[in-house]
Parts: sequence; structure tokens; C-alpha cells
Amino acid sequence: MSEPKEDIALPFIEGDIISLCAMNLDRISLYVAWMNNPKIRKYAGYNMPQTIEDVKKKFEPKKEAVKEEIFFEIWQKEDKKPIGYGGFLWIEWFTRNAYMFYLIDPDYWGQYIGTEAGKLIIEYGFKELNLHKITTRLYAPNKASLRVAEKIGLTHEITLQKEVYIDGKHIDALEYSIFKEDFVKSQ
Ligand SMILES: CC(C)(COP(=O)(O)OP(=O)(O)OC[C@H]1O[C@@H](n2cnc3c(N)ncnc32)[C@H](O)[C@@H]1OP(=O)(O)O)[C@@H](O)C(=O)NCCC(=O)NCCS
Repeated sequence: MSEPKEDIALPFIEGDIISLCAMNLDRISLYVAWMNNPKIRKYAGYNMPQTIEDVKKKFEPKKEAVKEEIFFEIWQKEDKKPIGYGGFLWIEWFTRNAYMFYLIDPDYWGQYIGTEAGKLIIEYGFKELNLHKITTRLYAPNKASLRVAEKIGLTHEITLQKEVYIDGKHIDALEYSIFKEDFVKSQ
């Protein structure tokens, strides 16, 4: 029988309470559990059950020459535990625009972790990837995510009216964004 794999972090960026680490597909079942968790999936756009195979396809390195997605596992430093993931989607290297996202285990909500994760991802996007604009798409009833967006310096740019269907009704999706020049001014 093989030895259980050590639960190790592969830190890439250190924050105060969290680190952004390389994804580790040995923990795929944890990612699947988060995506299927009713509290998380409601506002994270997962409205069909996610299997291990589905999630593997999402996170396995793609074959295209230019990376359009960058994912991080989010580790809680004190507990030495992976407690979420986040990163960039739809990166366009020509315009240098990208969408960011993050998802935290509900056991850790309300501890400033979403805020720190958002800040670190934005900092990475502007200081290391030289992005021009970072956007995130949020759903109007997801008050915690709207609050986090404001706390990390994003501003409301557009409303997509009745864009998504949740809890039996169409609701608005909001896009919040930040430009590099505004990020630099805020430093
Ligand atoms: C959105 C999410 C990342 C927030 O993570 P978190 O670690 O709880 O965030 P923080 O603790 O840093 O901040 C949460 C803020 O929202 C506020 N908040 C929480 N619930 C709220 C509610 N119902 N109404 C208003 N504000 C609320 C908190 O008070 C806090 O603000 P404060 O610091 O001013 O008090 C987390 O809920 C999550 O993973 N949700 C599922 C996935 C998702 O929605 N991702 C965002 C889309 S990319």
C-alpha cells in the first residue's frame, strides 16, 4: 500500500494570514467538494454537479501556447490548510485585461481571508503580470462578495440585468473592475 501523500503547500505568494500556492491535483477531491458545496456554488456559477473528471479538466494544464488562466490554492497559514482557490480567467495578453475570482471554504468566511486573497491576486496581476485592467463578475444578492470587491479597491462598472437564474428568479450580475493606474495611485 502506498504511503498517504504529505499535505504540503507550494507557496508562491506570502500574505499575512494566507499564502497563494500552486494548485495540487492530489487534492482534487477537496476542490470538487467546494464546488458542490451548496453555500459556495450558489453564487459561484456551479449549477450542475461537478465530478472529479470535470474538475480535473478545469485545472489540468491546458495545451494552448498562451495561458489564459492562472489558478492558486489559498492556504491558511496558521492552520496550515488549503481553504480555497482563486486566480485569473480569460486573460487577454493583447489588451492585458483579465477576470479574477476566489472562493473560500465557508468554515473560514468572515475572517478577512477573501479580502486578503483578492488583494494578493490583484497585486500579482498588476505587479508581476503587468495587467492593464482586472474585472470580477458578482451576483447582486452575494453581499459578502460585493463588500470584498469594495474593500480591495474595485469599483462598480456595469450591471448585466437579470443575467443569471438563482433561487427561482433572474438576478443582476455586476462587474467590478480596477485599472492599473488606479491601483498604482492607491499604493
Ligand atoms: C465572497 C467570499 C470570497 C468572501 O470571503 P470572506 O473570507 O468571508 O471575506 P472577508 O471576511 O474578507 O470579508 C467579508 C465582508 O463581507 C461582509 N458581509 C458578509 N456577509 C454579508 C452580508 N450578508 N451583507 C453585507 N455584508 C456582508 C463582512 O462583514 C465583511 O465585510 P467587513 O470586513 O466590512 O465587515 C466568500 O463568501 C466565498 O467564497 N463565497 C463563495 C464564492 C464567491 O461568491 N466568490 C466571489 C465571486 S468571485
